[in-house]
Amino acid sequence: MFASLKALPADPILGLLTKYREDTNPKKVDLGVGVYKNEAGETTVLNCVKKAERYRTDTETSKVYIGPTGSPLFNDEMANLIFGVNHKVLNENRTCTVSTPGGTGALRVAAEFIKSCKAGDTIWVSNPTWANHMALFQAAGLTVKTYPYYDYDNKNLDFDGMLAALKQVSSNDAVLFHACCHNPSGMDLTNEQWQQVVDVTKSVGFTPVLDMAYQGFGQGLDEDAYGLRLMAESVNEMIVCSSCSKNFGLYRERIGACTIIGESSLQVDIASSVLLSVIRGIYSMPPAHGAALVEIILSSDELRNEWHCELETMRNRINGNRQLLVDKLVENGVTRDFSFIARQAGMFSFLGITPEQVQLLQDEYSIYMVDSSRMSIAGIANRNVDYLAQSIAKVL
Ligand code: LMR
Repeated sequence: MFASLKALPADPILGLLTKYREDTNPKKVDLGVGVYKNEAGETTVLNCVKKAERYRTDTETSKVYIGPTGSPLFNDEMANLIFGVNHKVLNENRTCTVSTPGGTGALRVAAEFIKSCKAGDTIWVSNPTWANHMALFQAAGLTVKTYPYYDYDNKNLDFDGMLAALKQVSSNDAVLFHACCHNPSGMDLTNEQWQQVVDVTKSVGFTPVLDMAYQGFGQGLDEDAYGLRLMAESVNEMIVCSSCSKNFGLYRERIGACTIIGESSLQVDIASSVLLSVIRGIYSMPPAHGAALVEIILSSDELRNEWHCELETMRNRINGNRQLLVDKLVENGVTRDFSFIARQAGMFSFLGITPEQVQLLQDEYSIYMVDSSRMSIAGIANRNVDYLAQSIAKVL
């Protein structure tokens, strides 16, 4: 059976992990996978997570199954975090949130759910989007189409192109939006642009799917959810996929959530029964550990405050790195304008160089970024930024 298999290339993002780990150059710089790193280049466990973990070890009494939806307390806390307490859709009982294995698990559940809807077999994603969106949706049997998003020449949003394309989408289709910290471009919509996108969504009638993998990494927890909350207030049906990998630093615990918003609580009940059957058919039940940590943190004032501070530290460091790199490039004699990096948000930006130049950075200087020149900004630090800027200057 296996004889006909052909080896596949490594994942364009995760493949960099192995290459970086195997590189023995002491000057190596990791701008590959989107994980937060501190100034020392480490991805440490958050203090609030450590405390929650100790509490959990002391108080956990059973490892019995929880069920396909995961912990109800986690799901409620996540819904409050995503929509804000007292959001209209929560007060109207029009949501169902389930725990999922990471944000990727949430996306796969959403994709299978869309496929289960009579009308649903096409999803539109931004061009560009997270590399795994395409593979994941196609694996679930959806047709994937793209709408314009990033203007590579002007390092800006192609907002006119985006709106024009959205107006042509069929009302039966789903459209994926990045709620904040667009991966890979770092180019987010302004609040005014979100309003226009919401207006088009309402008038065309397609189903919005909001992917929020980086809440808190752009401008703040509430600010980053602005577009998502506006959309949820304005449409009858919507899907939200969220992740606790980055903002709680729980990457390997695989915890995220998928939320369905329906036009009535009755419709949500029906939708959630489909969701449960989808989950049962893929992984039966989500892992519980990460969810337990998040629910402990979010339901304790003290730990929640500590989490807010730790998240703010991560956000400020990334934003500082953006300006730092721009300044260092100028200092090293680069005349090309890279100031757009400081205007973008979240974990990523495109450097805007060719795949050949990306390869050169890797081969000659042990600097790792995705082929598209997507950089994970958290990998920049005071100790490597001069070397990084000098190496970029050499390959330009
Ligand atoms: C990324 O885009 O680098 C992260 O979301 C990690 C991943 O799974 O690709």
